Amino acid sequence: MVFQAIIFDLDGVICFTDEYHYQAWKRLADELGVPFDRQKNNRLRGVSRMASLEIVLEDYTEPLAEAEKLALADQKNETYKTLLAQMSPSDLPEDVRTTLLALRERGLKLAIGSSSKNTPFILQQIGLADFFDAVSDGNNITKSKPDPEVFLKAAQMLDVAPECCLVVEDAVAGAEAAHRGNMRAACVGDAAKAAAGDYNLSSITELLSII
Ligand code: BG6
Ligand code: MG
Repeated sequence: MVFQAIIFDLDGVICFTDEYHYQAWKRLADELGVPFDRQKNNRLRGVSRMASLEIVLEDYTEPLAEAEKLALADQKNETYKTLLAQMSPSDLPEDVRTTLLALRERGLKLAIGSSSKNTPFILQQIGLADFFDAVSDGNNITKSKPDPEVFLKAAQMLDVAPECCLVVEDAVAGAEAAHRGNMRAACVGDAAKAAAGDYNLSSITELLSII
C-alpha cells in the first residue's frame, strides 16, 4: 500500500492529553459520587464530550435535564482546560516530534483528525499550531468516531483519496472510524493492545517502517 497522507488522532497519539481527560472526568465523577476508573476511561477515547458524559453518568441514578448535562460537560471542560493551560512545547514527546519530521521529509501530507473541540488550543500549547497540512476536529464535525466523518473531512482538505490515507489512533472507536472511511489504521496504546489496527505498534516511530 502506498500512502500519500497520514491522519493523526491528537489525544493519546500526538500528546498525552488523554491523561488530562481522565483526571478531569475523574474529578467530576467523584463530585457526583459515581464510580470511574481507567478501564471506563478507555471507553471515552475518541468519543465526543457529550457522548463521554453519558458514559460517565451510566451509574448516576438521578434524572438530569439537558441543561444540567450541558453544565456538567462545561464543568469537566473547565477542569480540562486548566490542565491544558499548563502545557508547553516540552509536552510534545520527542519520538512524536522526530517521527512527524521524518514523515514530512518523505513527502507525506500530514493532518489531524480529532473529535476534540480543544484541538486548536492544544496544538498551540505544544507548538504545532502551524505544522499540519490540514486540521479536522470536533469543531467541524456533526458525528464523532466511530463515524468516519472527521477523517473523511481531513482527506478532503488534503485532496487525497481515503484509501491512500493512513490513520494513527489510540482509540478502538477511532480505528473503526478509519475502517468505515475506507482507510487503514495504525494503532498505538489502548487500541494497539486491543489489536484494533491493521498495524498495531508498540511505538509511534514504527510508522517509519510501514511507510
Ligand atoms: C477525543 C478524546 O480526542 O476528544 C475524547 O479521545 C474526548 O476522550 C473528545 O471526549 C472530545 O474532546 P473535547 O476536548 O472536545 O472535550
Ligand atoms: Mg485519542
